[in-house]
Amino acid sequence: MNLKSKDLLGLRDISAEEIQYILETAKTMKYIVTSNNKKTAHLQGKSIITLFYENSTRTRLSFELASKYMGASAANISASSSSVSKGETLIDTGNTINMMGSDVVIIRHPMSGAPHLLAKNIKASVINAGDGMNEHPTQALLDMFTILEKKGTIKGLKIAIIGDILHSRVARSNIWGLTKLGAEVSISGPATLIPRDIDKLGVKVYSTVQEAILDADVVMGLRIQLERQKKGLFPTIREYSRFFGIDDKRLKLAKEDALVLHPGPVNRGVELASSVIDGEQSFINEQVTNGVAIRMALLYLLTRRGTNNEVTN
Ligand code: CP
Repeated sequence: MNLKSKDLLGLRDISAEEIQYILETAKTMKYIVTSNNKKTAHLQGKSIITLFYENSTRTRLSFELASKYMGASAANISASSSSVSKGETLIDTGNTINMMGSDVVIIRHPMSGAPHLLAKNIKASVINAGDGMNEHPTQALLDMFTILEKKGTIKGLKIAIIGDILHSRVARSNIWGLTKLGAEVSISGPATLIPRDIDKLGVKVYSTVQEAILDADVVMGLRIQLERQKKGLFPTIREYSRFFGIDDKRLKLAKEDALVLHPGPVNRGVELASSVIDGEQSFINEQVTNGVAIRMALLYLLTRRGTNNEVTN
C-alpha cells in the first residue's frame, strides 16, 4: 500500500485505511526507537527540513531525531533565524528549500492552510506540524497509536477531550482521526471555547466535564491557548481550572482503567492536577516516545511512495 498524497496535511483528508497503515508501520518503528541501536537506513540519501514559524519542543525534536535515526540528512530553520524576518514569503522560502534538493519539508505555521499552500507550490512532500487552529495530524496519530497500544482497539471506545477545543488543532485532528476509526468522541469546555461548527464534526458536546468524562476509556486534557485568544475572552485561568480541570475526583468518573493523555506542553494544576499527570493512569511520557515512532513511519511512507519496498525491522 502507498499513501495517496505526497503530503500529510491533515486527518480530514486521509482515509481510515491510510491512518491504520501509518499506525501499523509505527509499530515497527517503535522497536527501533526503544532499542539500543537507533540506526536504520530507511531514509539514507534523503534530505529532511523542518521549517517552524512557531515554537516547539516535542514535534520539532521528534521529527529531527526520527530523520537522524533513519539515516537522512536533517536541517532546521526557524522564522526568527531565517530570511523570513527580512520579508521573504512562504512560497519563496519553500522554493529556496526545494531547490536545495529537500525530499520532505515539515512546517509549523500560525496561519491555518499555510502547509496546504506550500504543498501546492513545491515538489517535496510537506508534513503539517500544526497550522493555526486547523490541524496537527502527527500529534493525533501519536495519540491514536498510544490508545491502540494500550487498549488494542479504537473502535467503540469513548474518548473525552476536555478544555479549549476552539483553539486546539490537536482536538480537531483527533476528532477527524478517532471518529474515522470508530470511536465515540465526547467534548466539554467553556462555551466561549467550543467551535461554532462543532455539530458538523460528529462529536457529543457536554456542558460539564463530569458528563463528558463519565465512563470514558480515554481522557484527554488540553491547555488553554492564551496565545490564540482575543483579549478579554473568558474564562480566566482560574475559572478554566475550576470548571474544566481534571483532578483525581473527576477522573474517578471515567472507567477504572481509563488512560489520561495530554499533547503537551502541560500546565500543571490548570488543565490537569499534578497527581493526575504523575499518576498510574497517565501515558503522557509514552506519548512523547510514540511521537518519534509515528514521525519515523510517516517520513518512511512518504519518501517510499512509488517504490515496492515494505518496512523491515
Ligand atoms: N504537542 C506539541 O505539538 O508540542 P510542541 O509544541 O512542544 O511541539
